[in-house]
Amino acid sequence: MRTVKNPFVTGGYISEEYFCDRILESNEVIRTLTNGNNLAIISPRRMGKTGLIQHCFHQAEIKNNYYTFFIDIYATDTLKEFVYKLGKEIFDTFKPKGKQFLDGFFAMISSLRPAFKLDPMTGTPTFDIGIGEIHQADFTLEEIFKYLEADDQPCIVAIDEFQQIGQYPEKNIEAILRTHIQKCKNTSFIFAGSQRHLMQNIFFSSSSPFYQSVNLLQLEAISEENYIPFVRKHFSKDKKNVPAELVSKVYHLFEGHTWYIQNIFNELFSLTNENEICTSELAKEAIDNKIDSYKPLFQSTLSLLPERQKEILYAIAKEGEAIAVTSGAFIKKHGLISQSSVQAAVRQLLDKEIITFENNVYQVYDRFFGLWLINLYGTGWKW
Ligand SMILES: Nc1ncnc2c1ncn2[C@@H]1O[C@H](COP(=O)(O)OP(=O)(O)O)[C@@H](O)[C@H]1O
Ligand SMILES: [Mg+2]
Repeated sequence: MRTVKNPFVTGGYISEEYFCDRILESNEVIRTLTNGNNLAIISPRRMGKTGLIQHCFHQAEIKNNYYTFFIDIYATDTLKEFVYKLGKEIFDTFKPKGKQFLDGFFAMISSLRPAFKLDPMTGTPTFDIGIGEIHQADFTLEEIFKYLEADDQPCIVAIDEFQQIGQYPEKNIEAILRTHIQKCKNTSFIFAGSQRHLMQNIFFSSSSPFYQSVNLLQLEAISEENYIPFVRKHFSKDKKNVPAELVSKVYHLFEGHTWYIQNIFNELFSLTNENEICTSELAKEAIDNKIDSYKPLFQSTLSLLPERQKEILYAIAKEGEAIAVTSGAFIKKHGLISQSSVQAAVRQLLDKEIITFENNVYQVYDRFFGLWLINLYGTGWKW
């Protein structure tokens, strides 16, 4: 097993050792898939959808019995790009099986055959095709799914940031995908997404082709009872100490949001020496350093916002959890202009995913950004 210097991983999945909890969720994912059902996973960005999927793919039940594929389509803009990503992922997964296998791959997915090239330096097979060379994405997709269906083991295809298909310019994209997916008997699908309302439209509005075609997992924060021992265990393995109250304080500051907690403890772990106790002062400093490290990004985000949007953004940041932002009281309290201008600005900020709206509460989406804004325009964030 790979060991890492810092046990608080902030990149991708490494192994069970560095993965906190998600026992119930993993069981649910695995049970759904092994029952031959498809699954949608919805949570805010950075809560741990991708990690959970990777974790499940590493479990013996899945690893030993299924071929697993994972594509993130966040950066794709067309069905062609989607098809390219999926084709390449399957190619890369099967590449170690050797030439004969790849011959079979391109025999069945003939429309991707031009992608088969041999690296002139090393002679190893590569997948290399211009998006423009995929002429009929729909047809290639059909070939890909036929190929998966003919495999000697069942397959699982995980598609991350699935709501992105809503941006594709092709008509009836959901119907096209749904038709292919419906035909699959040997392949199960995970659709993960971070934009709740878009995901809900895809899977739970009765007019959608995907209506009621999946089990739903809404991924919440890891519980505090599980996070505290996880953090403390990794500190103590390195003869470092972090009090439970301090872990709890950090947990609540970020409301258990995984990526932020991992980031802060990654930092605190490296700042705490052996045989030392991590202090609250050190934590405050580490959080401020983290926030500061994103300053250029935050400044450029701000500089792109019109005045009205900035004003309401500051107001929401100051409140932390803002409710009734178009009420007279809120408008007066924060010196905003009018109900209609607030409404318009809020809509823009939601569209840009700078703020979120859940359970009638508005928040700054990026929690570091939220704290940075309070430092910038308020009295500083409270610790
Ligand atoms: N259960 C977990 N334990 C520890 N770290 C995790 C866990 N789940 C996710 N992470 C880490 O948190 C960060 C965000 O998780 P990720 O799975 O990428 O979120 P999402 O896909 O929802 O945006 C990643 O750096 C990942 O390594
Ligand atoms: Mg993800």
